Amino acid sequence: MPGHEPLTLIEKIRPERMIKRLDQLAQIGQTIRGGVTRLAFTQEDRLARAMVVDWMHQAGLGVRTSPIGNIFGRLGSPEPDLPVVMTGSHIDTVIVGGRFDGALGVVAAIEVADVLNENGVSLSRPLEVACFVMEESSRFSTGYAFGSKVMTEQPIDDETLLAQDRTGQTLAEAIHAMRSRELGLMEQALKPGDSVETAKAYIRDSRYPPERIQSFIELHVEQGPILHTLGKPVGAVTAIAAPTRLAVILSGQQNHSGTTPMRLRKDALAAAAEAILAVERICRSSDGVVGTVGRIEVEPNVVNVIPGKVRMVIDVRSVSAGAKADAAEAIRAEIGRIATDRDVACQLDTITDETPQPLSDKIVSLIEKNCQAMGIECRRLASGAGHDAAQLAQVVADTGMIFVPSRDGISHDPQEWTDEGDILTGSQVLLLTLLDLTSSGATHF
Ligand code: GLV
Ligand code: MN
Ligand code: MN
Repeated sequence: MPGHEPLTLIEKIRPERMIKRLDQLAQIGQTIRGGVTRLAFTQEDRLARAMVVDWMHQAGLGVRTSPIGNIFGRLGSPEPDLPVVMTGSHIDTVIVGGRFDGALGVVAAIEVADVLNENGVSLSRPLEVACFVMEESSRFSTGYAFGSKVMTEQPIDDETLLAQDRTGQTLAEAIHAMRSRELGLMEQALKPGDSVETAKAYIRDSRYPPERIQSFIELHVEQGPILHTLGKPVGAVTAIAAPTRLAVILSGQQNHSGTTPMRLRKDALAAAAEAILAVERICRSSDGVVGTVGRIEVEPNVVNVIPGKVRMVIDVRSVSAGAKADAAEAIRAEIGRIATDRDVACQLDTITDETPQPLSDKIVSLIEKNCQAMGIECRRLASGAGHDAAQLAQVVADTGMIFVPSRDGISHDPQEWTDEGDILTGSQVLLLTLLDLTSSGATHF
């Protein structure tokens, strides 16, 4: 990189440009609670993705979008055939989420590209900025990291494609609708089977040969309390926890709330309440395991009727596959017991069972080396949240993540916040690490 000292180049990063872009993104899908609802494959998602494409063009990137909606912006190199170094994240959010989760990794990646472009840096291998579609599973309660899974050729089953959002639209239909609009086609109503076949064709055409990727790094907010509590500006992520999700349906007897004696009731919600407390108890006593019931639906959900049916989803996570499997098994057994005791029918299905993913030691060391060069502290830590990097790591050995602090450890909430100084520092570490990776294994730099 003649004429460009990496430690001089990082001074060119413009935090105010990143903050402005984060503000612009946060306006798309902003809620009255101050947060953002930008669910995948919605109008808001489309508008935000168009904005990202625009920024990529401004950064001098060659942009392409895969049929399911992953966006890649490429900064060329005199060695265009070498496998790329990739960086990026996602811009979809949970329902009433924050403005940094995912968005920061995309905005910082584009900022890095801007700096390289504006300063005429010639890279020894191409750099690609990625914006993955649908990292969050909030809309369909399944399909976590869908875009990065599709890209890395992980199986997507029909149940996932047929999962419905709260309006009854399936994931396959949402993909079809988005693609039709992008292609400027009149959206045709498709039968469920047809939309699945159409989505599968888009999925097939969205694969990215893993041998074309040399390394992947994602900058992300920690979304937990460790960096904030310790006062460390940067984290080097060693592993990513993975969810196991159990869908539970408890069916009792809907009945009159005034006439039915307590001893004759089959109250599905009372059974669910016991089950939720069992999840909490089991996960509290399982080292390194967390468990949540974040979604519950009650039928008929009326003040003077004993609930007849409850549907809920349990999310269990850990970086230890064994501890997670043990906790999930204990939860299954305990919910079965509760249902039997209360004479309530119970259907329990595992809808997701993902494997925790270790990340590259080499990238952790590079992040630490760069923090040392910048004179800042770095803390190794595991990620409790899921990430696109967990999918990339399954096919690209040199995959890593850089974390920056989340104020008070809050995320998936409008209060999610990361200070401008931490955003700048994290982006600088990202740029230095990308410079290391774009020079490694190449003939010149
Ligand atoms: C994704 O962000 C998750 O951890 O649920
Ligand atoms: Mn998230
Ligand atoms: Mn995220």
